[in-house]
Order: sequence, then C-alpha cells, then structure tokens
Amino acid sequence: MYDRVGGEPFFKSLVDRFYAGVASDPVLRPLYPEELDAPNEHLRLFLIQYFGGPRTYDERRGHPRLRMRHAPFAIGLAERDAWLRLMLSSLAEAGLDAQDEAEIAEYFRDTATQLINQMGRPSR
Ligand code: HEM
Repeated sequence: MYDRVGGEPFFKSLVDRFYAGVASDPVLRPLYPEELDAPNEHLRLFLIQYFGGPRTYDERRGHPRLRMRHAPFAIGLAERDAWLRLMLSSLAEAGLDAQDEAEIAEYFRDTATQLINQMGRPSR
C-alpha cells in the first residue's frame, strides 16, 4: 500500500491536512497540546510504518500501543466522530484509487472505534 499511494509525500500531505483541521476543531483541539508539530510527526511516521513503509516510528517511539497511548484522553463517540470526519475528508482530498481509499478508510474507522475509552454522559 505504501508504494501504491505514493510513499512519504502522500502520508505527509494527508497528516498535514488532518492537523490543519484539528487546529480549529472545537471537539479535538482541546485534547491536543498547543504545539501540533510533534503529534503531526508521530502520526505521519506511524501511518508510514503501518502501511508498509520505513519503520522509523518504532525506532523513535517504540511499540505503538495505541490504546495505551490514548488512555490519557477522554475519547467518546463525539471525539471519535470528529477525528474520523477530519481524517476521512483529508483522505478523500488525496483522490486515491477507490479501492485503496476504501481500504485505508476502513482501517481508520475500525481503529478509531477501538480507541473509544469513555461512555457518553448518562441520559436522564
Ligand atoms: C478516536 C479519536 C482519536 C482521538 C481523539 C485521538 C487523539 C490523540 C491525541 C490527543 C494524541 C496525543 C498527541 C500528543 O500529545 O502528542 C494522539 C496521539 C496519537 N494518535 Fe490519536 N486519536 C484518535 C484516533 C487515532 C487513530 C484512529 C489513530 C491511528 C490510526 C491514532 C494514532 C495516533 C498516534 C500514532 C499518536 C502518537 C502516539 C505517540 O507516538 O505518542 N489516533 N491521538
């Protein structure tokens, strides 16, 4: 997949578009640190590695353990939906082959759902 979608430049622009959205997103912005450069780099290196590119993420950050790394942040349905909406629109802008886009989108949907760690506020 890594080579098919165009290697590093594809992931760099995908993640740059995503974080440009995070910067002004009312749900997501408060979860992230003020400076978005490090989160941007970590996500880019992680995705490059996951989709079959160089394993620089592991060298710098160790095993991803995404659930553990997201444990400090309250992620409910609203956060998952906001994250996915931004990522899927960033992905759509790349104009990939439909089958490649569908495969990557499915990975994001599944993973984002697995990272939910909060139930919504109980209704009364
Ligand atoms: C479900 C909604 C999600 C929310 C609200 C969320 C939020 C966050 C936040 C707040 C950080 C920490 C940034 C920092 O302080 O450096 C982070 C890091 C990260 N997230 Fe997510 N995330 C979500 C889903 C995902 C998904 C679906 C993936 C992968 C496909 C992902 C991959 C990562 C990676 C790789 C890091 C950096 C880990 C590290 O090396 O420290 N996240 N995320």
